[in-house]
Amino acid sequence: MTVTRGLEGVVATTSTISSIIDDTLTYVGYDIDDLAENATFEEVVYLLWHRKLPNKQELEELKKQLAENASIPKEVIDHFKMYPIDKVHPMAALRTAISLLGIYDEEADVMDAEANYRKAIRLQAKVSTIVTAFSRIRKGLEPVEPRKDLSFAANFLYMLTGEEPNEIAVEAFDKALVLHADHELNASTFTARVCVATLSDVYSGITAAVGALKGPLHGGANEAVMKMLTEIGTVENVEQYIQKKLENKEKIMGFGHRVYREGDPRAKHLKKMSEKLTKLVGEPHWYEMSAKIEEIMNSTKPLPPNVDFYSASVYHCLGIDHDLFTPIFAVSRMSGWLAHILEQYENNRLIRPRAEYTGPQKQKYVPIEQRI
Ligand SMILES: CC(C)(COP(=O)(O)OP(=O)(O)OC[C@H]1O[C@@H](n2cnc3c(N)ncnc32)[C@H](O)[C@@H]1OP(=O)(O)O)[C@@H](O)C(=O)NCCC(=O)NCCS
Repeated sequence: MTVTRGLEGVVATTSTISSIIDDTLTYVGYDIDDLAENATFEEVVYLLWHRKLPNKQELEELKKQLAENASIPKEVIDHFKMYPIDKVHPMAALRTAISLLGIYDEEADVMDAEANYRKAIRLQAKVSTIVTAFSRIRKGLEPVEPRKDLSFAANFLYMLTGEEPNEIAVEAFDKALVLHADHELNASTFTARVCVATLSDVYSGITAAVGALKGPLHGGANEAVMKMLTEIGTVENVEQYIQKKLENKEKIMGFGHRVYREGDPRAKHLKKMSEKLTKLVGEPHWYEMSAKIEEIMNSTKPLPPNVDFYSASVYHCLGIDHDLFTPIFAVSRMSGWLAHILEQYENNRLIRPRAEYTGPQKQKYVPIEQRI
C-alpha cells in the first residue's frame, strides 16, 4: 500500500465543472479572470449547473426561480431564536439550518435528476436568506424578507442590513461570489461528493460540505485573516508579528495552497478590490497591512496569498461581521457543491479509499476484570 497523506496529487474523479491547470482556474473552460471581469454570479451558477453560459431567457428563468424560492420555512427562523445566540458560530447555524431545510422539503429523498435540480435551486435560493436571517436574529432584529427585484448579490446585502445596498457594494460582492463559486475537488466539494456517492440525499451532501468548509485550513481562513489583521493593528507592527509567527512555525492564514504553486489567480482580483474599498471607506490600513504581510511572506517563505487573504478586508469594508465571512464563502460555493453533487449522481460510484493499518496486531480479548 502506498499512503498519500492528504490525498495530495490523487486524481479521484473526472469532472467537467472546473479545472486548475498550470495555476489557471477555469469554470467550464472559461478563465476565472474573464468571468471575474464580465460575468454575474447568476450567470456563473447557470454555467456550473448547465456547462454553458445562459442566453437572456435562460438567465431570466434562473433568476426568477431563485427569487421565488428564497424564503425559508418559519421553523428555521424559530429554531435560530432558540439558540444561545452569543455562543453559536454562524457556520454552525448554517450547517444546522441546511439539515433542517431537508426535514421540511417533501422532495428531500426523491432522487430523480429533475427533483435533485429543483432542490439545487431551492438550496441556492435559500442560503443567503439563512445566513442573513441568523445574523439579524442574533442582533435582536427580525429577518428581512428577500426581494424579487434584486440580484442575488444585492439581495444578500439588502437582507443583511434591511437597506438597499449601493452599486459599488453590489459590484464588489457579486465579484467575490463569482470568484468563490467553484474550485475543482477542494476539501468541502470532495466531502459533498463522498457523502452523496453513498446515494445519500442533496441536503446531507451540502450539510457535510458546510462542515468541511468551516475549518480554518479551508473556508474558515478568511475570518482568521481578519482576526490576524485586527491583532496586528498597524502597518508598523506587521514585520515583528509575522516574523514571530514564522519563527514559532505558526501558519499565516490566507497563504499557501495545496494545488497552486506560483499563486492563486483569484487573489489578485480581491487585492485590487481591497485596495479600492479600504480607501473608499477611509480605512486604508487594512489593505496596507495586508500588502505588507504579502511582501514579507514573499521574501521569507515564499508563499503566495490565496483567495481568503484579501477577501477578508473586502468583506470588512462592506460592513460585514467577521464571523460571517465563511458563511458568505458558503453562499457562493453552494453553487459549486450543487454542480458537483449533480455530476456525482449522474455517474456514481461509491468513494471508499483504504487506510494502511499501523496499530497493534494479533491481540487477544481480555475480560474486563483482568484489565489494568
Ligand atoms: C492551504 C494549506 C492548508 C495547504 O496545506 P498543505 O498543502 O497540506 O501544505 P502543508 O500544510 O503541508 O504545508 C507545507 C509547508 O508549507 C508551510 N506552510 C503552508 N502554509 C503556510 C502558511 N500559511 N504559513 C506558514 N507556513 C505555511 C507548512 O508549515 C509546511 O512547512 P514544512 O514543510 O516546513 O513543515 C496551507 O497552506 C495552510 O494551512 N494555509 C493557511 C490556511 C489557509 O489560508 N487556508 C485557505 C486555503 S484556500
